Amino acid sequence: MKEIFPGVFRSGKDLLTVNLVPGKRVYGEKLLAKGRQEFREWVPQRSKLAAAIMNGLQNMPMKQGSRILYLGAASGTTPSHVSDIVGHDGIVYALEFSERPFRSLIELARTRKNIAPLLADARKTEDYYWVEACDILYCDIADPQQTEIAIRNFEEFIAEGFLLLSIKSQSIDVVKEPLRVYEEEKRKLEKAGFDVLELIDLEPYEEKHCFIVAKK
Ligand SMILES: C[S@@+](CC[C@H](N)C(=O)[O-])C[C@H]1O[C@@H](n2cnc3c(N)ncnc32)[C@H](O)[C@@H]1O
Repeated sequence: MKEIFPGVFRSGKDLLTVNLVPGKRVYGEKLLAKGRQEFREWVPQRSKLAAAIMNGLQNMPMKQGSRILYLGAASGTTPSHVSDIVGHDGIVYALEFSERPFRSLIELARTRKNIAPLLADARKTEDYYWVEACDILYCDIADPQQTEIAIRNFEEFIAEGFLLLSIKSQSIDVVKEPLRVYEEEKRKLEKAGFDVLELIDLEPYEEKHCFIVAKK
């Protein structure tokens, strides 16, 4: 087993994080005991961040103690691994606007004390203005305006740090070539003053999706 990023491990073909709540699964993933620790399989078909790591991501800014604003938390699959990585000293403000997945997110936060679930719309930053300054913005909301929404949230809650952005080409433009869509979204970020460090295609895990790591 090799630690490839802080709190992220590789064992053969598997990607793993250290389970913050030993004995508990979140989405049916494998649990693996090693020494005194328990590891949780991180399934790349279920998480775009895991898919980006499997496809060679170089810049992974999350570590113990990181404060993350996570837009589009759904029922908490990827947020649970982010929660493993940032540990008890970190926090994940997990924002979701749809009530059904939000209910599962609340359940998840009962055992994972470093997840703060927020039922809010990422387009209305005034509804969660009280969130503290964070180090990293993670955005996975599959909205046609998502790059603009990410930029606005970054300006209000991050100021200096990293943006991890998942882009679904078809939710921005169904007919345009995905590579063109990715390039256009990347240019929007550069225009807003970001250094785009990486743009990773998520095939074969996710069709017509890419993952961007940017810094400001
Ligand atoms: C692709 S899913 C997220 C999956 C999740 N990030 C994961 O990896 O486990 C996108 C989620 O974003 C939510 N979403 C879309 N637009 C949103 C908005 N404006 N504000 C908050 N959540 C939004 C959707 O309800 C959906 O649950």
